[in-house]
Amino acid sequence: MKVFSTKKELQKEMEQIRKEGKTVGFVPTMGALHEGHLSLINRSVAENDVTAVSIFVNPTQFNNRSDLEKYPRDLQRDLLLLEKNGCDIVFSPSVDEMYDKNEFESVFEFDFGGLDQVMEGKFRPGHFNGVVQVVSKLFNLVQPTKAYFGEKDFQQLAIIRRMVNLMNFDIEIVGCPIVREKDGLAMSSRNLRLNAEERQKAVEISKTLFESKKLISNFSPEQVQNWVIARLNSFSGLEVEYFEIVHQTTLQPIHSWSEPAIGCIAVFCGEVRLIDNIKYNDVQ
Ligand code: PAF
Repeated sequence: MKVFSTKKELQKEMEQIRKEGKTVGFVPTMGALHEGHLSLINRSVAENDVTAVSIFVNPTQFNNRSDLEKYPRDLQRDLLLLEKNGCDIVFSPSVDEMYDKNEFESVFEFDFGGLDQVMEGKFRPGHFNGVVQVVSKLFNLVQPTKAYFGEKDFQQLAIIRRMVNLMNFDIEIVGCPIVREKDGLAMSSRNLRLNAEERQKAVEISKTLFESKKLISNFSPEQVQNWVIARLNSFSGLEVEYFEIVHQTTLQPIHSWSEPAIGCIAVFCGEVRLIDNIKYNDVQ
């Protein structure tokens, strides 16, 4: 496994790989790797000649300084896991390597077509500008054949698909299912920040989402939405930031179960903000 920290070294390596006609699978991450990331990496290893992973805690996508500072980091552990899972190339740049000073001072502009106006975009202003900024840079550097993203960040995945279309990247975007702990909690690097009591409460998020699926034959999307919010807010230590049942493609609210519906949620568990989602039916 080769580890690079500069753009130049990475580009040189990727150019050589392309010359050899090899396919490249790319998994962008912010490190603190867990089984969810490993599922993306394993899929990339199975589907491509070469797998590249980036580890970069991207400051431009954090709208909360303390969240950025507290984001878990453990590069040595991540590298061991990557080596064990068949990764070939790791790109782990510093912030200065990734960004010029002026890129920090100006807002990265992108036409989101409204996808950033709801849910994560509404509650984390500027978040998706930062995501598109860093992922487009990484795509230009790596130029992969396929790139792998988890469906836990469902809105991010929709925005990346739009970005690839608008910016004409010749990259296949592969969405991969959420990986859960045995008790149902969606895997997340942020789970590491939960204390024992919070960890126990956090399981109520997925439990409530699974229960809500049983309600759709008798209740409207609005009623199910209200039920989920009320149930989770009834636990002390949990506070729902949003729960919205939206169309799986447009991410706009739906009013009938005949549409392809997904419920997306953000919940504060103590100070830790967790997200999850559940599909109520499939895209037709
Ligand atoms: O999903 C993430 O971990 C990040 O948003 C990503 C895609 C690596 C960009 O920083």
